[in-house]
Amino acid sequence: MMNDKLYMAIDVGTTKVCTLIARVSSNAELEVVGTGVAPSRGMKKGLVVDLGAMQESVRDSLKMASWDLDRELPKACVGVTGTHIISEHSSSSLNNGHGDQTISLKEKEQVIRQSHPKVAHDQELLHVIPQSYHVDDLQGIRNPVGLSGKKLVVESHAIIGEAASMDNVVRAVEGADISVGSMVLEPLASAEAVLTGDEKEMGVVLVDIGGGTTDIAIFSDGVMCNTSVLPVGGFQFTNDLVIAYGIPYHIAEDAKLQGGHALPDEVDAEEWVEVEGYDEGMPYRIRRRELCGTLSDRASELLRLILLKVREAGLDAMPPAGVVFTGGASNLPGWLELAGEFIPGPMRIAAPTGLLGLPEDLQSPTYSTSVGILLWGIRHPVEQESYGRQRRNESFKKGRHWLRWLSKFIGTKD
Ligand SMILES: Nc1ncnc2c1ncn2[C@@H]1O[C@H](COP(=O)(O)OP(=O)(O)OP(=O)(O)O)[C@@H](O)[C@H]1O
Ligand SMILES: [Mg+2]
Repeated sequence: MMNDKLYMAIDVGTTKVCTLIARVSSNAELEVVGTGVAPSRGMKKGLVVDLGAMQESVRDSLKMASWDLDRELPKACVGVTGTHIISEHSSSSLNNGHGDQTISLKEKEQVIRQSHPKVAHDQELLHVIPQSYHVDDLQGIRNPVGLSGKKLVVESHAIIGEAASMDNVVRAVEGADISVGSMVLEPLASAEAVLTGDEKEMGVVLVDIGGGTTDIAIFSDGVMCNTSVLPVGGFQFTNDLVIAYGIPYHIAEDAKLQGGHALPDEVDAEEWVEVEGYDEGMPYRIRRRELCGTLSDRASELLRLILLKVREAGLDAMPPAGVVFTGGASNLPGWLELAGEFIPGPMRIAAPTGLLGLPEDLQSPTYSTSVGILLWGIRHPVEQESYGRQRRNESFKKGRHWLRWLSKFIGTKD
């Protein structure tokens, strides 16, 4: 047990913060040994808007996940999302100078490194995902290592985020005295937890409908080739009820969870949804079919936006493996049936399963991203200095440089 390696994932979401700790034994057995879920305070649409509140939420979930572990906690892998995320195509080529030699792993790594796009000072490169390679005139190669040729080209998909937004997530975690080891784009993480290898090969659209955002990732030939983020999630569904019925947010949320359905015709026209308020007064009563009508309008709009994003990605038809929905808001009853009215082809709602030690209530679409971040951290180990410290050092250096310049300018010593 003491030789097992510990891994930690922190999913800083709009509605919840979920911390998962797992151990991997020397014979590669993975077991979840700590889980903690705390309500998220201080985040909107995937962005930290109140750092202090967010740090408290992270601390709460961490305390829950680690209370009976008497070992030092590892660095965390943390998820990133939000509409500040952009993706860019990049490519690079390398001349294999020594004639008709075979391409080595070193050259493959070098051409990938060269394809890293330059980002502005207020941006941060999150991932560079190689899509395919060309060796001389041969195109569409998955792995060029071992092939012979004079010229190697890589086509990559780069994911770039706003440095300040990512920094805020790092700070929220560091406030709980945890270092961030690596960061992962949330839909890329969710994919680790819920997509099969076949789906990724055939081509599939992964749609993660969370609290504040809907993250879309398209996979083809085994790799992610497009991502986008819509600023719509479960929060907006609930907020529509707040506006339509003039009720407080927590009442609307309860009403949605109790009686929500994406197809109003499926519910009894005479049925009422009743939610108790905090005080002794009368419960709030809403006709269930009306409530579902409001939710259905929002759901239909979201489905149209998803289709639009898929088209914007250059797909004129749904890929063969169709759509895989996940995320908390995909729990809305009737979701799949409604989606079928808008989107052709196969579709399913996915949850993370089959992980040793994962409590049953976490085997829900709500926790796909959390489990995915954990799996990503384990499958993509990075031996790097703490992400936060590295960044802070850089800005510290920049700050000192600026101070020196300033002191020269005003004639004082630094
Ligand atoms: N049965 C249900 N019916 C409808 N909505 C549901 C249901 N269960 C959960 N939700 C909604 O799912 C949302 C939370 O989803 P999730 O936990 O995936 O979000 P998050 O990770 O906190 O947010 P994000 O990833 O957007 O930052 C909430 O808005 C909640 O109302
Ligand atoms: Mg989420």
